[in-house]
Amino acid sequence: MVRSVRWQAPAGEVLDLEFKRIVSFARLHVIAQSVTIRADRDVKLVVESGINGQMTNTGSQHFSEGEKRLYDGAVMQYTQTTIQSKIDFFFNTRLRFFKNGTEQQEKGFITMDRRRIDMRYTLELAAGEALTIEKISTVHTSRDKDAEGVDFKEMQTRTLAQAEEAQAMGYQALADESAAAWNERVWDRVAVTVESEDEFDALALHFAQYHLYVMTPAHDNRMNVGAKGLSGEAYKGHTFWDTEMFILPYFNFTDPAIAKSLEEYRYLSLPGAHKKAASNNYKGAQFPWEAAWLDDGEVTPVWGAADIVTGLPTKIWSGFIEEHITADVVYGLWQYCTVAGDQEFMDKSGYELMMDTAIYWVSRMTEKEDGKLHILDVVGPDEYKEHVDDNAFTNYMAHWNIKKAIEYHDLLKVEKPELFAKLDAKLGLAEAYAQWTGALDRIFLPQPHEDGVIPQNATYLQLKDIDLTKYKNQDHVGSLFDDYNLEQVNQIQVSKQADILLLFLLMEDLFDHKTKQANWDYYEPRTLHDSSLSLSTHCILANDLHDTELAYQLFRRAAAIDAGPDMKSSSAGIHAGSVAGIWQCAVFGFGGVRMLGGKLRIRPALPKAWSRLDFSLYWHGQKLHVVQTPGSVTVENLTGTAPVEMELVGEQISLTDSVTRSL
Ligand code: BGC
Repeated sequence: MVRSVRWQAPAGEVLDLEFKRIVSFARLHVIAQSVTIRADRDVKLVVESGINGQMTNTGSQHFSEGEKRLYDGAVMQYTQTTIQSKIDFFFNTRLRFFKNGTEQQEKGFITMDRRRIDMRYTLELAAGEALTIEKISTVHTSRDKDAEGVDFKEMQTRTLAQAEEAQAMGYQALADESAAAWNERVWDRVAVTVESEDEFDALALHFAQYHLYVMTPAHDNRMNVGAKGLSGEAYKGHTFWDTEMFILPYFNFTDPAIAKSLEEYRYLSLPGAHKKAASNNYKGAQFPWEAAWLDDGEVTPVWGAADIVTGLPTKIWSGFIEEHITADVVYGLWQYCTVAGDQEFMDKSGYELMMDTAIYWVSRMTEKEDGKLHILDVVGPDEYKEHVDDNAFTNYMAHWNIKKAIEYHDLLKVEKPELFAKLDAKLGLAEAYAQWTGALDRIFLPQPHEDGVIPQNATYLQLKDIDLTKYKNQDHVGSLFDDYNLEQVNQIQVSKQADILLLFLLMEDLFDHKTKQANWDYYEPRTLHDSSLSLSTHCILANDLHDTELAYQLFRRAAAIDAGPDMKSSSAGIHAGSVAGIWQCAVFGFGGVRMLGGKLRIRPALPKAWSRLDFSLYWHGQKLHVVQTPGSVTVENLTGTAPVEMELVGEQISLTDSVTRSL
């Protein structure tokens, strides 16, 4: 990031300051900053900088006072431990000074205060001279994988050495190294480029890809993506279904190793999922709605904002009953294994997760008088409807989960008896199988009414309809709550975000065009898109319904959430899932890319504003390069070591080299 400031001091001196900073993409622990200062006359400067341990997370100080040290009169080290979780943090930093490019040996004085350590330098700067101050820092924690088994003192020594190595390289070399890593790993490898009438579109896609990488802890499978990435404190860094439904697809298709790490996290967090199921008297694995450290289990806060009517805090029910997450997780994992062709991961973790969660779903269902199995008292994706029965999205996803478990049970029994025996010993497959097969055809799956509309839940269609115009044209998200509380919203046909419509993307071939259109016509006007996850889903679906221009408008709205002119929309942090949705709009929407029944499909349609869309995909280890123009699509298998089976614009092909089709 580069920032230029012209500052006029009270006595009239004019200073030009250019700040530059990077968090290295090549060295996990390194942060580098530089500021170049020029003055219009001779000035005296006092420079004070160091490590500020007084930083808070929305008011909370997490750290103990810690140890502060100065090495060689220049390198500052601050080691602190978090009060609750006892994680050690090791910070090292140093300032270096250059005048017109030549390093200066400046003598500084150390200042220490509560929770801070700084160096103070007094410098003379002549008119027109360029003074550059570099600050190169490192951050390590005792939780880092490379810190395992290393004691506190040794970490202090080791991190100091790493900091000194980076400090010796200097800002520019670190910035160049980081830029080269970006090019190698992202921009020269998998950049999505678009030629559009409006250059914002290309910018938005770059913005999305940039954030997807900076927010994803690709180096550590014990961590996942926070709902606000690393850019804000809202949602406390917790991981939601946003990962599997919105973020994971990007990595499935462009960086499978990262996708794998995100799903390993889910496998490693099974103890937490067992804990949650058991605490609710269910069997198997129930994934937490909000997840953090592996064995934490459920971490959704229980209380939220004040209720406009009662003035009391509103209870957040998602942590208790927003249960579709469990099927979403295995759907994501299955998508990863299928797109990447990662059979090893399926063997190691996938089958087990599929079955363990299917065990949970059966234990979660209730038989009613109609002889059907119902899922009662849930929150579906549309969080404006709490305590509903038979949320269509949840029921269909649970049904899919159990169906897959049965399919894999049958397959493993015949083809992988050893693995089958292992899973049987762990999960008790005889009993589980009897329950799955006994349940599958009895699971209540809401069907379309005569007009094609599928009830989002058992009561939605009977709720009162109100004029939503004011809220559809709202100037701030959630304006409905200026007038109603959640209890009242529960009684109105209004949705926060895509619910049943998302199902049409995940299970595209289960529903025909007419049903999709009927549900779009019914639900979209009642959806306020108050979750940032909603617009990208609608954009892709509008494409599927062949309304490319509407899809384009929705793409622009989705992209504007974080990349647009409203600076306040991201004040609590960017919306990680929504940012990934920008990529989905381009590749799944206008690119028409989908994994269907284990096969790749590409069915492109560009909006009028776009003259070219260019992206890369990985499929079973083969890298494909796709170029779309209004009249044609070219797909090239750049790896070319195995044929890729796909449906391209309605035609089944097997691709080892390159193919062009007109549109
Ligand atoms: C949405 C959820 C989402 C969460 C985190 C909520 O506002 O309704 O679907 O998972 O934000 O992004």
